[in-house]
Amino acid sequence: EKAGYDHFMLKEIHEQAITVENTLSVKEEIENIVKDLKSIKRICFVACGTSYHAALTGKYLFENYAHIPTDVILASEFGYSFNSLDEETLTIFISQSGETRDTIDAIEMAKEKSKTLAIVNVLGSQATRIADYVIYTQAGPEIGVAATKTYIGQLICIYLLAAFFSKHHLKDEVFANTLLRKINLIPKLIEKILENEDEIKDLSLKYKYPPNFFYLGRGLAYPTALEGALKLKEITYIHAEGYAAGELKHGPLALIDYCVPVVVLLPKGDSYKETMNNLSEVQSRGGDIIAFTSDVEDLSDQKAQDVFEIPNDLGEEFEELFAPLTYIIPLQLLSYYISIYRGLDPDHPKNLAKCVTVG
Ligand code: M6R
Repeated sequence: EKAGYDHFMLKEIHEQAITVENTLSVKEEIENIVKDLKSIKRICFVACGTSYHAALTGKYLFENYAHIPTDVILASEFGYSFNSLDEETLTIFISQSGETRDTIDAIEMAKEKSKTLAIVNVLGSQATRIADYVIYTQAGPEIGVAATKTYIGQLICIYLLAAFFSKHHLKDEVFANTLLRKINLIPKLIEKILENEDEIKDLSLKYKYPPNFFYLGRGLAYPTALEGALKLKEITYIHAEGYAAGELKHGPLALIDYCVPVVVLLPKGDSYKETMNNLSEVQSRGGDIIAFTSDVEDLSDQKAQDVFEIPNDLGEEFEELFAPLTYIIPLQLLSYYISIYRGLDPDHPKNLAKCVTVG
């Protein structure tokens, strides 16, 4: 059932192009839900772990492209700050399992005050039975404890929601149509990134020892940095911190020296220049930089120790917009191979369960 792969996690990483394709096929259902939600003035995302990182990505998309004020709350914190919800709020729950205790509790609370929508992978799970609206990510069963293909499925649902909110609320058909056209290129792009798996294997061998890592990104690449760091912690037991690149100088820079590799996400776009500036902060403290970017040449002259290329097939204008869907792929592989080179079993990380049904 691992289809020739050594682990479910690796199989599931490789199933992401098809997950994108399959999830794009629920486009119409998503548009119909958005049409039904005309009175919505505010969105509140609620989720845990990897699903929370998908939600954070949603905040950038919804606020920038649909102009809808959007909050993102950890499900376990929801009970302490949900009093401002009202019938003009849409609360969106994201959960691959649809059974996470904290998320289910939050849906119950939110249902009293707001409209609720659940983005879920597991058919008929508890969340799907409680929420007013349901969107299924079309990832198929995910066995590995580390969420990979379900994350990409969640992101696709969020991109589609952003496109349709932009179309129907903001009346910006141009953005919506461009997004809907360009997103069809993502499956091929994911396949192309996966073709360079051997480069990630080499990087993993090189970086299997350091006990601490930083992951940096700005804007849409920031939640991806958080997710990359979570993947590393979860299956390699290496301490990794995901940070907004601009926050480095507000404290964590004190921890960076030649023993701390820093993974930097550098999609071309609005944030590129400023993230590049953060590289020099890292460099002057001696930290090894592992850069992920489409502009390999710009990084080649000693700015980074290692550079992994993300193909720029979408055009420079769209690279940053879609970065969460592409830059996460090599980060998942990096965690997978570091775990293998450390002699661990990535499918069964210690102390973790696939589905967290306790609060
Ligand atoms: O099933 P859910 O999406 O609600 O699960 C939430 C988290 O427990 C989950 O994403 C966890 O962080 C993953 N193991 C991360 O890979």
